[in-house]
Amino acid sequence: MEKLVIEGGTPLSGTVAVNGAKNAAVAILPATVLINGKCRIDNLPNISDIKLCCEILKDLGAEINFISDEEIEIDCTNINKTEVPFEITRKFRASYYFIGSLLSRFKQAKVGSPGGCNFGSRPIDQHIKGFELLGATVESEGGVITADTEGLIGNRVYFDIVSVGATINVMLAATLAEGTTVIENAAKEPHVVDLANFLNTMGADIRGAGTDIIKITGVPELTGGSTYSIVPDQIEAGTYMIAAAASRGNVTITNCITKHLDSISAKLIEMGISVVENDDGDEITVSCTERPTKASIKTMPYPGFPTDMQPQAGVLFSISDGTSYITEGVFDSRFQYTDELNKLGANIKVNGKTAVFEGVPSLTGCPVTACDLRAGAALIIAGIAAQGTTEVYGIEYVDRGYQHIEEKFNKLGAKIKRVIVD
Ligand code: UD1
Repeated sequence: MEKLVIEGGTPLSGTVAVNGAKNAAVAILPATVLINGKCRIDNLPNISDIKLCCEILKDLGAEINFISDEEIEIDCTNINKTEVPFEITRKFRASYYFIGSLLSRFKQAKVGSPGGCNFGSRPIDQHIKGFELLGATVESEGGVITADTEGLIGNRVYFDIVSVGATINVMLAATLAEGTTVIENAAKEPHVVDLANFLNTMGADIRGAGTDIIKITGVPELTGGSTYSIVPDQIEAGTYMIAAAASRGNVTITNCITKHLDSISAKLIEMGISVVENDDGDEITVSCTERPTKASIKTMPYPGFPTDMQPQAGVLFSISDGTSYITEGVFDSRFQYTDELNKLGANIKVNGKTAVFEGVPSLTGCPVTACDLRAGAALIIAGIAAQGTTEVYGIEYVDRGYQHIEEKFNKLGAKIKRVIVD
């Protein structure tokens, strides 16, 4: 086990480049199962969820070659299995994308229930509804989801709620189905669009991704043969933006798509923080000299304020001037991190789906434990902003989604050491 030891109180300054998006990569790797041939994927983040996706692909019979740290060649021609065991699927959420891709190409899938961060109940009823509407029989028993079909046939799939996972999974299933599938009330996140772009590059016919209606015309096979570069990570960029503001620093974030950051930029500007985008829309500079003022957010599907930025925003609200509010609009339970921030001297009260942040002038370091990926990122930001020493435990969660996080922060002037804990 490892922990990060952070000497806080230094404003961050300099430039940091964003890696490829975790949530796009963990959809695109399972999507390679659909390709009867080779493909190359570039701008791949070097994070533990990607290692798990590769383990699953290898176990299924795919050949994988790393061309560099960030570029991979995958050949799924000879996949000879359609089962993914629970020992590995329980370790991350996106493992359920193998249901959609295996079902689409091989007409069957047996995949252990997905794991991932604990934000309360995370049902997959909309995924299952979508598979069934395309003609699959799906059973969920004893922690295993089994899906079979004699051949998927396109259909209209209307989702009762906006779900990233269900949109992606049904898109995967529909790619090789016969006829046309229309997904209505689809999620519009950048990673949904990125998956559609990847599949189209490999020979699929998907239109409308990024709107709430996606039309997928099934094709007999994907032959691959191309290289695809993964979209920059919106949440990683947003995390560095908030870290810059919380530390009263001045940081330029490069290799990002500023359009994807609009909801975060707007909130920071509302709080009196300077946010400047370059003309090309791929760099953003955040600087903060005064104590930010209070604000409120309600998390929503894209283009609303992302739930995956909620804990990081919570750190900023904790040290802003006045009373701020966060309403969690996506998950049942995503405020566990507030207990840890309160240990650092924040004053946060949670009432159901709303948290009230009475801003304090500063935080003071102490040992804290991450309960999930973004909570871990938030505690690191809190440690950087706090006076004194903060120890962050539960770093394995952070390694699931952030590449070299302490190295990147240290280049910006933070003082963070990774230490092995007995
Ligand atoms: C994905 C992201 C996660 C992000 C979330 C919301 C990945 C791998 N993970 O998670 O980082 O926090 O989107 O942006 O991309 N729901 C149902 N039934 C379903 C599916 C979802 O009720 O069948 C509910 C969920 O419980 C939740 C809401 O819908 O309340 C949104 O969930 P969803 O968008 O599906 O999130 P994930 O795909 O799990």
